[in-house]
Amino acid sequence: MNALSPVLTPRELVGDAPPSPAGPLDPAEAAAFPGPPEITLPRTLQILRFNQRQIEFVFRARRELGEVFRMRGTVDDSPVITSHPDHVQSLFTAKPELAPSLTGESPLRPIVGPNSVLTAIGPRHMRQRKLLLPPFHGEAIERYAQMIADAAEREIDRWPVGRPFALAPRMQAITLDVIMAGIFGIEGRPRRGTPEHGLRTATKNLINASTLPAAQLVELMNIGRDEPVGIAKVGLAMLDRPTYRVIAQRRATDDLGERRDILSLLLQARTEDGEALTDQEMRDELLTLVLAGHETTANQLAWTWERLVRAPAAYERLRDAVRFGDADASAAAVETTILESMRSRPVIPIIGRRVKVPWRLGAFAVPADTPVTMSILLVHHREDVYPDPYAFRPERWDDNKPGTYTWIPFGGGIRRCLGAALAMAEQRVVLETMARRLDLEADDPEPERAVHRNVTMIPSRGARVIRRR
Ligand code: HEM
Repeated sequence: MNALSPVLTPRELVGDAPPSPAGPLDPAEAAAFPGPPEITLPRTLQILRFNQRQIEFVFRARRELGEVFRMRGTVDDSPVITSHPDHVQSLFTAKPELAPSLTGESPLRPIVGPNSVLTAIGPRHMRQRKLLLPPFHGEAIERYAQMIADAAEREIDRWPVGRPFALAPRMQAITLDVIMAGIFGIEGRPRRGTPEHGLRTATKNLINASTLPAAQLVELMNIGRDEPVGIAKVGLAMLDRPTYRVIAQRRATDDLGERRDILSLLLQARTEDGEALTDQEMRDELLTLVLAGHETTANQLAWTWERLVRAPAAYERLRDAVRFGDADASAAAVETTILESMRSRPVIPIIGRRVKVPWRLGAFAVPADTPVTMSILLVHHREDVYPDPYAFRPERWDDNKPGTYTWIPFGGGIRRCLGAALAMAEQRVVLETMARRLDLEADDPEPERAVHRNVTMIPSRGARVIRRR
C-alpha cells in the first residue's frame, strides 16, 4: 500500500486535463467569472491541518472542490490553490511585476532579511539573482562532484550494519559538508575554536532547532516581520558572529582570485554599476543558500530511499545498472530514480505568487492582490499526466523528459530554484555511491508518513533503514 492511497485512490482523480485558460484579466472581464470554491472549515483549523497534514488536506479539498479552491491561511488574505499545468504556466511566465513570488512573505524573511535573492522582489531580486547565478551554473557545479563523492564516502563509512537507523540526519551531515565546502570553501571537519568550526556548529544547531515542534510557534511569531523576535533572535546571533568572522577573514586573504567557493566568488562579484556586496548583504545571501540548500536536498535523498526500499523492482533496476551496467546505463538509472522521487515526494510541496491584477484560473477568476499557490504535490499526482501516479516507477522517465509545467519540484520562471544544478549533482553522486556500496532494506514495510517542517515535507521517521552486510 502507498502512503498516499488511504487519502485518495487513483480512481478518484480527474480524467483527461482539458486546456484551462489562465492569466491576467482586466477588471471588467474578471467580473464575468465566479471566484473559486472555498474550504469552509474555521480558519484556525485550516491552518492547523494545512501545517500538519497537508497531503490529506489538499487531496481532500481537490476531491471535494475541484482543481482550484481557496483556503484561509496564515497570511491575512485567503490563498487560492491550483494544480492545473496551464495555471502553473501562466504564473511562471507572467511578467514579474504582475505575479511576484510569495517567498517575500515567507517565515524565512526575518532570518535572511527582506533583500536576499529568496525574499526580494522586483529589480532588487533580479540584481541579486544575476550576481549569484554564475557559481550555480551546471559547469561550475561539475567541479564539486569529487568533493561531494568524498563527503558521501566519509559519511557512509560511519554507518552501522544490521540495526535500524534514520537516513535523514546522515544525509544532512553530507549536505552540510557540501554546503560548507561549496559555499564557504571549508573542506572536511574544521578545527575546534576556528570561526569555520563555529559556523558549522551554529548552522547545524539552527537547523536542528528549526525542526523541533516549538519552532512552528517561533515561525508563526516571526511571519511578516523584518527582524526576528524571541528565541530565533538568540539563535541567529550565534550564527551571525562566526559568519561575519569568516567573511572578514576571507576578504583579507591574498588568494581570493584563485578560490572557487561561492563566498570568494561573491566577494569579487560586481553589479552592472560596479557595486560590490556589503558584509550585511553577503551574510543574508550566504544564510539564504545554507537554509535553502541543506535540509531540502538531504530530505529529498531521504525520500528517495524511503521509496526505494519499498519498491523492490525500482531498487533492483538501480542497483543492477550502477553495479553491472556501463556508465550510460548507470547514469540513466540514477537520473530516472531522482526524477521519480522528486515527482512522488516533492520536498517542497507548494509554492506561490501574489497576482497584482485580476487573474483567470480556468472557470474562475480571482481579484488583484490574491496569493495564488501551486500545489506541486497535486500537479505531480495528476492521473492524466502521470498514469498510475501513486506508484514509484522510475521507468516512466525512460523516454520522457520532465515537463516545464508538470514536473515542478524546483518551481519555475525567474524564481526557479537557484541551487537546482547543485541539488541534482548532490543527489546523483550520493545516490550512485549508496546504490553501489550498500544493501539497504526497510525496517518496517509500512510507508513513512509525510510531516511538515517549515516549508518542507519530510519522512516522519527520517527514512529508517537497515544496512545489510
Ligand atoms: C532537492 C533540493 C531542492 C529543492 C527541492 C528546492 C526547491 C526550491 C523551490 C520549490 C524553490 C521556489 C521556486 C519557485 O517559487 O518557483 C526554490 C528556490 C530557491 N532555492 Fe532551492 N531547492 C533545493 C535545493 C537548493 C540548493 C542546494 C540551493 C542552494 C545552495 C537552493 C537555493 C535556492 C534559492 C536561492 C532559491 C530562491 C530563488 C529565487 O527566488 O530567485 N535550493 N528551491
